[in-house]
Amino acid sequence: MKVLVIGSGGREHALAWKIARSPKVEEVICAPGNAGIATVARCVPTGAGDTEGISRLVADENIGLVVIGPEDPLVNGMADRLRSEGRLVFGPSAAAAHLEGSKAFAKSFMARHGIPTARFQVFEEYEPLHGYLQMLDHPVVLKADGLAAGKGVILCYTRQEAIEAADKIMSRRSFGDAGKRVVVEDLLTGEEASYLVLVDGENVVPLASSQDHKALLDGDQGPNTGGMGAYSPAPVVTEALEQRVLEEIIYPTVKGMAQEERPFSGLLYAGLMITEEGPSVLEFNVRFGDPETQPLMVRMDEDIVPLLEATAASNLEPRRLAWREGTTCCVVLAADGYPGSYRKGIPMPGLDDAEESDEMVVFHAGTTFGEADGVRQVVTSGGRVLGVTAHGKNIQQARQQAYDAVERIRWEGACYRTDIGYRALKREQGEE
Ligand code: AMP
Ligand code: GLY
Repeated sequence: MKVLVIGSGGREHALAWKIARSPKVEEVICAPGNAGIATVARCVPTGAGDTEGISRLVADENIGLVVIGPEDPLVNGMADRLRSEGRLVFGPSAAAAHLEGSKAFAKSFMARHGIPTARFQVFEEYEPLHGYLQMLDHPVVLKADGLAAGKGVILCYTRQEAIEAADKIMSRRSFGDAGKRVVVEDLLTGEEASYLVLVDGENVVPLASSQDHKALLDGDQGPNTGGMGAYSPAPVVTEALEQRVLEEIIYPTVKGMAQEERPFSGLLYAGLMITEEGPSVLEFNVRFGDPETQPLMVRMDEDIVPLLEATAASNLEPRRLAWREGTTCCVVLAADGYPGSYRKGIPMPGLDDAEESDEMVVFHAGTTFGEADGVRQVVTSGGRVLGVTAHGKNIQQARQQAYDAVERIRWEGACYRTDIGYRALKREQGEE
């Protein structure tokens, strides 16, 4: 079977890498891919948002399974289109992808179905929003309703910060039309975790837990990014907590979506805050997380392709999956300046010394082939550039291996956090 992976990030590299190992797969094609994906798949220059182009490609190549990586094409109905053409597609319909496409919808959905989430209000106009914020007496989070590449969320500890955030999102439209509506919710405290499950409309197969690091700098300081590193499993998600997440969040969400005639098929990602009262949903995503998918794919101890096919064909058998013992840890290397503006086209000579194995894999995000110093080579082309993922018997060993590799691979100006996994490490060392 030929499998088409749509997208060009670290998530898609990890998926393509894992899919390419399946004995069921004769070829992986990726649209558009990147320089790293080109080592495991045939990359074609069709953009992830080019529905017409993708539809033609799927027909011309007679693709057996399409895996849609990013949220934008899902929210825009690419899965519906390909399904209407008779294709087997991994990824939700536009109606189901609304769970990520509109935070106001996600919040009201959770309220309707009694799913734990922070108290919230939705505003469509500036005056009432401003009036509400002037009365505030507690920290809040302001969120642009629509898709904003993970950047439309602002944590506000003071009234002044909240009003500035409202100006930025709604008046100045810094995130474009995503800011037409604004969700204001209580700021929650606790430890975050990512909980990803496969859903075929009805049945659920959980993946292992993981934890992202959203802030740019060590100690969770600095601006939010798409994610600077991740590890799996996340020890904060104990077996008892996992049971609560399934019963209080995942099952009611799957059932509620079916009841509202938006049956969810694909990967459901619950971004959680583990508060003193228990798990609470910060956000839903309707696709694999990035970078979480990188440590997850290196740890998954079974063929992913039958799982993707069963999800897409609505015959997923609920069960526990097999995972390698130990921990995997991914450290993201980003361009200097990310998440603001940054230069592109920088060579990464250290990539040649990477020495990859099942214990250490370098997934590419923003890379391409280009000319640097008169030589055609792999150069940077994005903000998050590489994800170095290592496996170890525990978090201490996994992160040590990852950082040893980072030392060999990093280029001048590469920016990365030096504390990925610190929470798990503290737990492992019995400090928490
Ligand atoms: P979201 O895209 O909604 O997950 O928000 C991105 C990040 O903002 C989350 O991973 C959290 O770190 C933070 N965040 C979002 N909502 C809240 C909240 N209600 N309380 C505290 N932090 C939040
Ligand atoms: N790692 C956060 C996300 O994928 O949205």
